[in-house]
Amino acid sequence: MENRTLGIIGGTGWLGRAIAEAALDSGFIGPDRLLISNRSGVSTFEPGVRLLADNQQLVDLSDIVVLSIRPEQFRELLINARGKVVISLMAGVPAAAISAATGADVIVRAMPNAAVEIRQSFTPWYSVGKLVEHDRQWVQRLFECVGSADEVPEEDCIDYLSALSGTGPAFPAMLQMALTNQAVAAGIPLVIAQRAAQGVVVGGGQMLASRDPRQMIESLMAYRGVTAAALQSMADQNIESIVGRAVQAGAEIARKGM
Ligand SMILES: NC(=O)c1ccc[n+]([C@@H]2O[C@H](COP(=O)([O-])OP(=O)(O)OC[C@H]3O[C@@H](n4cnc5c(N)ncnc54)[C@H](OP(=O)(O)O)[C@@H]3O)[C@@H](O)[C@H]2O)c1
Repeated sequence: MENRTLGIIGGTGWLGRAIAEAALDSGFIGPDRLLISNRSGVSTFEPGVRLLADNQQLVDLSDIVVLSIRPEQFRELLINARGKVVISLMAGVPAAAISAATGADVIVRAMPNAAVEIRQSFTPWYSVGKLVEHDRQWVQRLFECVGSADEVPEEDCIDYLSALSGTGPAFPAMLQMALTNQAVAAGIPLVIAQRAAQGVVVGGGQMLASRDPRQMIESLMAYRGVTAAALQSMADQNIESIVGRAVQAGAEIARKGM
């Protein structure tokens, strides 16, 4: 159990709440060490977790402050976080802008995804300023409460990865929908098409949790059968380039700022 106080501005939102609950459930932080703020005053956290209406009060009482609000809400936020470690979960808001607006000189930009909900997010994070070793380990452990995490070497990695891992279920959902729609177009009844496509994305995805995708593709290609023909067709149409352009399109938005 950590003896630092964590304050989460926007801690009742989707992301902030999931991280707070995971940190509590895993025993990483006690309820008396967690502060939450929002504008509505509505919270369903267990008793002991303080909900504050005043963001500055939260900052003053916290050692580490998480910004889990939307970028457009950040523009309205008025806090002085000088001397605090500020962790931003916001996409497309550079560390320099966060530092200028909050006065904090140690900023962590982290990019979890919607899988925080099932505690299987991958969270890349990057720090600016003097993050002492103990705080570095603390940040890593906080994000391990909701899955896995890695510190990345450059801030641009966060903007790129916002459009990759930050998108969470978006890419698999798009694939699942395409497989379903194409099966229906080929005459497969809708319910069967949906179940078949879900089996590919969800069942296949679970297998990849413990297998190397390259080896998987090579062994399937070696059969020279049905699956190999389908995979070869995707390779011939340069699926990697389609995926690469999609991620770049998202990353450009993150780099431009929101
Ligand atoms: N969702 C994702 O998959 C995902 C992935 C990666 C990164 N992110 C980033 O995470 C951030 C939060 O996203 P989210 O999906 O959790 O948003 P969300 O569900 O809308 O949560 C935002 C929270 O902030 C609170 N809030 C807004 N303005 C506030 C203020 N001035 N002071 C205190 N609290 C305030 C809101 O509560 P009240 O209305 O009660 O104030 C709400 O609880 C965003 O910046 C997003 O870019 C999200």
